[in-house]
Amino acid sequence: MAKRVELLKIIDNKRINSDYFILGLTSENNLPEMKPGQFVQVKVEGSRETFLRRPISIHDVDYEKKSLKLLIQIAGKGTETMSNLKAGDHLNIIYPLGNSFNLPPVGKKPLLVGGGCGVAPLLFLAKYLKSKGYVADILLGFRSRKRIIEFEEYEKLGKVFLTTEDGSAGEKGYVTDHPVLRSADYDKVYCCGPELMMKRIAQHCRQKKIACEVSLENLMGCGIGACLCCIVDTVRGNLCSCIDGPVFNINDLKW
Ligand SMILES: Cc1cc2nc3c(=O)[nH]c(=O)nc-3n(C[C@H](O)[C@H](O)[C@H](O)COP(=O)(O)OP(=O)(O)OC[C@H]3O[C@@H](n4cnc5c(N)ncnc54)[C@H](O)[C@@H]3O)c2cc1C
Ligand code: FES
Repeated sequence: MAKRVELLKIIDNKRINSDYFILGLTSENNLPEMKPGQFVQVKVEGSRETFLRRPISIHDVDYEKKSLKLLIQIAGKGTETMSNLKAGDHLNIIYPLGNSFNLPPVGKKPLLVGGGCGVAPLLFLAKYLKSKGYVADILLGFRSRKRIIEFEEYEKLGKVFLTTEDGSAGEKGYVTDHPVLRSADYDKVYCCGPELMMKRIAQHCRQKKIACEVSLENLMGCGIGACLCCIVDTVRGNLCSCIDGPVFNINDLKW
């Protein structure tokens, strides 16, 4: 798939809460084909500390409107600078990068599990699965009610189960504690979030013999397989998370 370096125009910057925001971007050209799980590398202007591009998952795509969305958590200088962008500003990105989630066999029931900002690639995935005729369940976990992200958007795409750590909405606890994991039968699980959460979901899937793919958020430099700073030690040897991932089958990981 051809990669593009492009200056996209910001159409809006929606603040979700003190930590999260969603950038809407539009292109003058038709968008390249993108797959759920892929990411963009964002150039953050105006600071020496951020000369390396920042990897951000593709959150949503609208080919007709030539627009895409990025859901971003403020983690440091780069993402903070991005949080101050306004409609009419421009963002230089390289995209689409990385591999993508694989579809389950036809007629199978998938479960999408996301924690915190890890929900970012799952909206695009849920839309994609729905467009292909799959009826997915979606399990989302956040710290508290105030930190819930776009619940209504996921509800349009499948049955949504919710956990919060403080119990202020949904089931109290972590996604890995939610009863739906034990009660329902799934044929495939897709997961993105904190590493510990993904490891626990992977463990659960191994025990139940459920196919599972996770999206890793390893530190990245170039994003195109040149700097080797995103190496993942797998059963197939060292792989680059930016080109061989970020989506990995749990059977390939030494977890
Ligand atoms: C494939 C992939 C997809 C991602 N998708 C999203 C997303 O959709 N939304 C989102 O908010 N975040 C996402 N991230 C994480 C995001 O890239 C980092 O939070 C961001 O780069 C931090 O930059 P910063 O300058 O704000 O913070 P820094 O001050 O540079 O770092 C803050 C924290 O972010 C980590 N970090 C810094 N640079 C990188 C990097 N290049 N790669 C990974 N982690 C880094 C650091 O280890 C540190 O813990 C993704 C990461 C990867 C690898
Ligand atoms: S980020 Fe440079 S090789 Fe993966």
